Amino acid sequence: MTIHIGAKKGEIAETVLMPGDPYRARWAAETFLEDVELVHEVRGMLGFTGTWRGNRVTIQGSGMGMPSLSIYVNELISQFDAQTLIRIGSCGGMQKHVDIRDVIIAMTASTITSPSSSIFKEFNYAPCADWSLLNAAVKASQSKGSTTHVGGIYSSDVFYGERPDLDEQMVRHGILGVEMEAAELYTLAARHNRRALAVLTVSDHLLTGEALPSEDRERTFGEMVEIALEAAFAPA
Ligand code: HPA
Repeated sequence: MTIHIGAKKGEIAETVLMPGDPYRARWAAETFLEDVELVHEVRGMLGFTGTWRGNRVTIQGSGMGMPSLSIYVNELISQFDAQTLIRIGSCGGMQKHVDIRDVIIAMTASTITSPSSSIFKEFNYAPCADWSLLNAAVKASQSKGSTTHVGGIYSSDVFYGERPDLDEQMVRHGILGVEMEAAELYTLAARHNRRALAVLTVSDHLLTGEALPSEDRERTFGEMVEIALEAAFAPA
């Protein structure tokens, strides 16, 4: 047990899927896994462990934003020996060719600041995904017929941004979408030599103001869970 994860050692699998929302963790575990167990519920940030096609998987909520995700990922890595961590979540689209419902597989995650920023000082570190996971996720996503974009995203500290000048530079430099967790996930995975990836669906669009209707959110979320599971257990 750790401060924020009340599971016993051995109750968390080596492969962990991480939605921001703990209720999404419950839905994904109940929908896609077999022999599911709730392994802890400290602060309501639910964690479930079960199996998918015979492979053990944990689905653990990360909360919103990098400070929250950093707590869970640090404990999952250092105390539970998690090896593969995949964020499944939503993002805001930032390019004209990226539409609502499209899947974005984040090759890199730029950020202004993250919980890890202080250790880098003047070093402009580029958080990037694990190649084997990225490659397998792209294949899984394309095989489902999802419109799939692979490239850079932006991990923000704020949902309600006040920097249109920065958005403009990101759009200009090809950033596909904005979310709030991946950069810290990628940085922690790199630091501890683990595999990480973020698979995202575009739930709203910064250029058009469009937003995904709530009845579509469950279907697109399910698609991401399947992509993440197929990538995690793809043959090397
Ligand atoms: N901004 C930040 N995070 C997000 C967004 C957004 O527009 N949409 C989904 N996650």
